[in-house]
Amino acid sequence: MAFYNRTTNRAIGRGKTKKKVEKRKYRRKVFQSIRGMRDILPSDCVYYDYILQQAKKIFNFYGFKRMEPPILERLELFTKGVGVNTEIVEKEMYTLKTKDEGEILALRPEYTAGIARAYVENGMSNLVQPVKLYSFGPVFRHEKPQAGRFRQFYQLNLEAIGEGDPVIDVEVILAAKAFLESLGLKSSQLRLKINSIGCSICRPGYIKALKKYYSKHLKEICTLCQERLKTNPLRLLDCKNEKCQPFKEEAPFSLDYLCPDCREHFKKVLEVLDSLDVPYALDKTLVRGLDYYTKTVFEFFAVEEYKNEEGIIQEKKTLAVAGGGRYDDLIKIFGGSEKPAVGVAFGVERLISVLKQKEKKIISPQPLVFLVQIGDTAQRKALSILEEFRHENIALAENLGKSSLRAQLQNADKLNVHYALILGQKEVIDGMIILRDMRSGVQELIPLTSVISVIKKYLRQDATSSHSKK
Ligand code: HAM
Repeated sequence: MAFYNRTTNRAIGRGKTKKKVEKRKYRRKVFQSIRGMRDILPSDCVYYDYILQQAKKIFNFYGFKRMEPPILERLELFTKGVGVNTEIVEKEMYTLKTKDEGEILALRPEYTAGIARAYVENGMSNLVQPVKLYSFGPVFRHEKPQAGRFRQFYQLNLEAIGEGDPVIDVEVILAAKAFLESLGLKSSQLRLKINSIGCSICRPGYIKALKKYYSKHLKEICTLCQERLKTNPLRLLDCKNEKCQPFKEEAPFSLDYLCPDCREHFKKVLEVLDSLDVPYALDKTLVRGLDYYTKTVFEFFAVEEYKNEEGIIQEKKTLAVAGGGRYDDLIKIFGGSEKPAVGVAFGVERLISVLKQKEKKIISPQPLVFLVQIGDTAQRKALSILEEFRHENIALAENLGKSSLRAQLQNADKLNVHYALILGQKEVIDGMIILRDMRSGVQELIPLTSVISVIKKYLRQDATSSHSKK
């Protein structure tokens, strides 16, 4: 007997039973996350929480307040702010058109443009200047995913808007450095690279010289650089292609074309860094990939170290963990008054990879008590006991489903709790609860009315004995 496919009405091939075909037809589609975007699982969320917690501590100290702009902005904000010819805007934007008004919006590829817009829109120029802000959240760039490069990643962003003094550049650098050190990175494991790319007055002269130089080598440079020569000449100095390296070394550098104001500004930045003993390396090829920068630009790198056979510490690889600089014209471009600004952003996933590589384990506090309940009456009572413990700020682990006593105790064991509280129907009726020390197996029956005070006493004793052991 032949079977026929219901939609195509074709006979189903020999050897295929109807059951098999139906099964294949209804096989469940397993959805996967989009390329370059990942789920942040609980084991990683603790790292994000830890980084934000350290950021709050350090940046509040330096006078920064948290603010969060929306993730979606008008595309124009980024074309005007970050620059139409930058790789981020030209090739990497996630854009969408709204159904009702047909507006073109974009997922933010970075924070600075949104913060600058918010500064103008919310009249922050009337506040005490500089306005110092930090933010923490996801940004989106449609880049080629690879190690340390994602399409959705988190940035921890810092901005100081409304003050042009070079000392503010140093303050932002100091805050960034203090934050990185608070994560356990030693000064010796950090590299600060710094440069000045001039301003709207001196940069055109520099770009002219750069174009003239590279035009002479047009045929010898890579195709990307040939393109950059037309659209974004500064980025020629960013090229990683082997072929272009010799030309990079011989290229004119912005530092030699700075106007007196930019030269004076940069001189003071370096002098203040020197006076504070902040190590840095002058990198004449550091240009950054966003158009809004003026004057000082800088990047922080984390150095991975290892000991060689003789036990001498060697550098393995470096990872760009943060980048920033001055952007004195952006507030004006967004319709505000002349408000110079400076900021930096950290790549949070890169910080996490540094923490993991340092084998820094971030452990979230685990409950030390497990509440076991057996039967309907005990299950209901367990909910009210949980609430009472919550009011006392004591976390209880539990398994409120219908699991057996054995299964619940196994779970308690897996969680390494110190105590299990066991509640059955009889205990509820008698107003009692069993307290089991999971390490010794010793059990005692205690009145429900005193369970919180008994647990508090035992946890206090555990804390003192573990403290004295240390
Ligand atoms: P940025 O250099 O484009 O600067 O990004 C800052 C940091 O984000 C980088 O140093 C890197 O650690 C991380 N990062 C960049 N792209 C990726 C990616 N695809 N995957 C993972 N991490 C990445 C800015 O965004 C500027 N808005 C910084 C700034 C603030 N300038 C002034 N104020």
